[in-house]
Amino acid sequence: MTAISTQSVPVIAIDGPTASGKGTVAQRVADALGFHYLDSGALYRLVGLASLQAGISTDSEQNLVPIAEKLNVIFQGDRVILAGEDVTDAIRQETIGKRASEVAIHPGVRAALVGRQQAFRQAPGLVADGRDMASVIFKDAVTKIFLTASVEVRAERRYKQLIAKGFSANMSVLLQDLRDRDARDANRSSSPLKAVEGAHHLDTTSMTIDEAVNQVLDWYKAR
Ligand code: CDP
Repeated sequence: MTAISTQSVPVIAIDGPTASGKGTVAQRVADALGFHYLDSGALYRLVGLASLQAGISTDSEQNLVPIAEKLNVIFQGDRVILAGEDVTDAIRQETIGKRASEVAIHPGVRAALVGRQQAFRQAPGLVADGRDMASVIFKDAVTKIFLTASVEVRAERRYKQLIAKGFSANMSVLLQDLRDRDARDANRSSSPLKAVEGAHHLDTTSMTIDEAVNQVLDWYKAR
């Protein structure tokens, strides 16, 4: 059998701010193409959850790095198993999302997760969603998308998502939390959220999911 370099496996990188709909769009694009899917935010959420369980503060980079390095996680279809426990829903809570964005500012935590993310690059292709997919993790992605939506629409989408999962949610608290997270993601020194040169900008404020998915597929096919 000839080994195929993973570098030849095409990657579609979808970056953007919190609750912009990246996850849904990325998953649907992956399904349409039969590609693998990486939800890189889940890894930061897992570090947020595992550190909480271990009683470690999100300020303590030196204690967070070993947690990120040793993360005992298995992705089984759409389920996420951490140390044998199904944490699929637990990591979607807002408290964990907030912790995720706090642990994500530490360069050591980010570095510890690079290899795990790049390992998702498997034939026939990968759709990866996050903040630094195009700028750091998959710089050679064939299609780079910067997906945004207004903060109000993002808060509304997150609200519906949380309620659908049976969590309680409050719009004004959510809006403030999204603004705080936007600021943390954009202003951190390590891999801040920003559109790379050559990225396609996709503002989904008044778009349906289908329209957004089709646009990404069109850009990929036209590359
Ligand atoms: O669902 P939401 O868009 O809020 O976040 P997520 O994609 O699940 O990621 C959770 C947090 O991890 C984000 O708020 C980011 O601060 C951080 N993150 C990151 O720094 N880099 C990534 N590639 C993915 C997520």
